[in-house]
Amino acid sequence: MMRLTLALLTITGLAHGAPATQVAWTPETQELVKSGDPGRGEKLAATCAGCHGERGVSANSAFPSLAGQLPTYLYRQLHDYKDGSRVNPLMQNFTSALSDQDMADLAAWYSRQPPPENSKAADPSQFEDILRLVRQGDSKRIIPPCRVCHGKQGQGEQIDTPRIAGQSATYLEQTLKAYHDGERHNDIYGRMRLIAEQLTSEEIRQLARYYATLQP
Ligand code: HEC
Ligand code: HEC
Repeated sequence: MMRLTLALLTITGLAHGAPATQVAWTPETQELVKSGDPGRGEKLAATCAGCHGERGVSANSAFPSLAGQLPTYLYRQLHDYKDGSRVNPLMQNFTSALSDQDMADLAAWYSRQPPPENSKAADPSQFEDILRLVRQGDSKRIIPPCRVCHGKQGQGEQIDTPRIAGQSATYLEQTLKAYHDGERHNDIYGRMRLIAEQLTSEEIRQLARYYATLQP
């Protein structure tokens, strides 16, 4: 019995308590990201263009756009892929040879590119149900409103809450599902996992569609 309890504690501990990322926002790390060289980043980004687009706007909806994203967020994701805190074989492969400086340079370049442009504005009446989660959250399920962290327009917030406005719906849905299932677990304090695990598949689909149509 005791052993079973211990085993269960270890499993839940791994799901929620495991170190999410190895990047801590020390003054040194923030300085490193700030000092990123966009010119060098542009050269390094040649390897990435096939999937993420020439200037970080991806043409394939399975590949996230990177243009206009927060540099601190980009830096941390690259670091997380490299050390395995965020698991993706493709991205682990493309980050394995990058130094911390390379990642800061790439982050500097992508963050300065114009974000994806939406051709048509969202029709709010289409999203009435899901807007409640976005604006008010759901206190019964202890889900805070998305916009307290991601910003009123989904534009993201310092230090590393990503911009989600204008991101591809396919990618947003896929990554929210990954938090929901615990496959993506590099979020500090499990903030996104605790939220996503309570969302239904339909809510995830609608939230992804809503944010994809917002103009960043
Ligand atoms: C063969 C295609 C491919 C190439 C080449 C590639 N990526 Fe990716 N990238 C992906 C996919 C697929 C994902 C989403 C993976 C996931 O779900 O975690 C991704 C995710 C990312 C993310 C996370 C974005 C977010 O919003 O969280 C960053 C940052 C990133 N890539 C940067 C790069 C950089 C920099 C390079 C070049 C050094 C690169 N990628 C090369 C396919 C690629
Ligand atoms: C408590 C603050 C907070 C709230 C509330 C919150 N988020 Fe997040 N979200 C974050 C942080 C921080 C990250 C980055 C986590 C990481 O590094 O994996 C994130 C990441 C994400 C990502 C991944 C983006 C990418 O490029 O991969 C999506 C999608 C997302 N959130 C959607 C939502 C939605 C939809 C809601 C509302 C239901 C929401 N978030 C509520 C803080 C929050």
